Amino acid sequence: MKQFPEGFLWGGATAANQFEGGWKEGGKGISVSDVALFRDPKSLAELSDVHANCDINDEMIQKALATDDEVYYPKRHGIDFYHHFKEDIALFAEMGFKTFRLSISMSRIFPRCDEEEPNEEGLKFYDEVFDECLKYNIEPLVTMSHYEPQLAFAMEYDGWYNRKSIDFFTKYVDVITKRYAKKVKYWLTFNEVDSITRHPFMTGGLIESRFPPEKFEEVKFQAMHHQFVASALATKICHENIPGSMVGCMLTKHTFYPLSPRPEDALAAQQAMRELFAFSDTQVHGEYPAYLLARFKNHGLNIVMTDEDLEIMKAYPVDFISFSYYSSSCAAAPREGLEMTNANTMQVVKNPYLPSSDWGWQIDPTGLRISLVDLYDRYRKPLFIVENGLGAKDVVEEDGTINDQYRIDYLKAHMKAMYDAIELDGVELLGYTTWGPIDLLSNSTNQMSKRYGFIYVDLDDYGNGTYKRMKKKSFDWYKEVIATNGASLFDEE
Ligand code: BG6
Repeated sequence: MKQFPEGFLWGGATAANQFEGGWKEGGKGISVSDVALFRDPKSLAELSDVHANCDINDEMIQKALATDDEVYYPKRHGIDFYHHFKEDIALFAEMGFKTFRLSISMSRIFPRCDEEEPNEEGLKFYDEVFDECLKYNIEPLVTMSHYEPQLAFAMEYDGWYNRKSIDFFTKYVDVITKRYAKKVKYWLTFNEVDSITRHPFMTGGLIESRFPPEKFEEVKFQAMHHQFVASALATKICHENIPGSMVGCMLTKHTFYPLSPRPEDALAAQQAMRELFAFSDTQVHGEYPAYLLARFKNHGLNIVMTDEDLEIMKAYPVDFISFSYYSSSCAAAPREGLEMTNANTMQVVKNPYLPSSDWGWQIDPTGLRISLVDLYDRYRKPLFIVENGLGAKDVVEEDGTINDQYRIDYLKAHMKAMYDAIELDGVELLGYTTWGPIDLLSNSTNQMSKRYGFIYVDLDDYGNGTYKRMKKKSFDWYKEVIATNGASLFDEE
């Protein structure tokens, strides 16, 4: 019988900023996500322009701060997990989750970033959440930082550009790893650590309009360097505070194929992949790859790094590599005149052989197998798929059912590819958490209508709805996959 390895961690993944809500409760401070504006995308083409608040500036932030509006700042309410966590975790338990990925909102623990003492109410909230998971034998998988630096950190300290960021972060990590030492074994440092180059405000607390345009590339890479040092120190602290704990890096795993066999396209694909590998190469090997150092030199980027920084990075590499995978793309040189499409917070060359989601993300299960092999062959460290799924519009029928067969088809194909990577390619895979097991807000577009869940949440893009949770068709399907440790995927064969 075909099955996944014993102990395989099936589950789902979320992020505080997209589902927790309670933005002014429990002593929470304001984060960059609380000023993320929803802009109604009228067409698919416009979606690329509403991505992830890249164009944020002080004026927009002040405007956001002047209002308590939650309709146009929807991450303020999320899906109100803050008040529904018992009900939601019970539903995850009903599906048989072995693990649940969530992030700690840093602004609940240190509302500004520079306080002497952490906020006890915030710490207590996560105690209750973890206890609820453990009650059902669900292993929490915790992201330390998922797109929500505190706003004060961004506005008063220039975010991760400031070297003080390392101290703020390591203090936070020390607090949470001590507090949750008996409850959490698996940790991720920065969600999609590579995303600082694509949405520097959300990931790095960098307000682009404050820096000279010609300096901004240097600013982003300096911030990245601080994150690398902080991540290595976080690994050290975590291992000290929780013996036996496992700390992973987290990447946005795009797979790029050359659009044609032309060497120029192959080179473009290799370079696009390196944009990503730069981050895992550094965090796994503990040192900058030659091609990244060459880039700093060739672009005239003066990245300040001390010998001690480099020693820290070398001494504390990650234990495993986690990543998100949604779609693949093509690369070509030149790109002018080629058909483009959307991918996760980027515009890419369209692959003529692949179907796309309603948001233009190209669907490619084989690309997941290729990604697993690429990463495992390169690093020989355990992998963890911590995000995968289909963002789609769901319809609630008159009888209350939600027939999301398209989601089942997408997930099934990706799970089978994952099985092949384990069985045929020898990849060591710790687990798999689908993105948004319960519908939540889209990171890139702030839409509620882009749904990923097995559980439907009655809420629309304009904040209308009861927040009621309803099971979709995929709920029972995933429950069966987990109960049979994957065997049900192959039932018809
Ligand atoms: C990943 C992020 O990039 O993709 C998540 O880690 C995000 O935060 C997910 O939600 C899906 O993207 P989107 O834009 O559809 O929410």
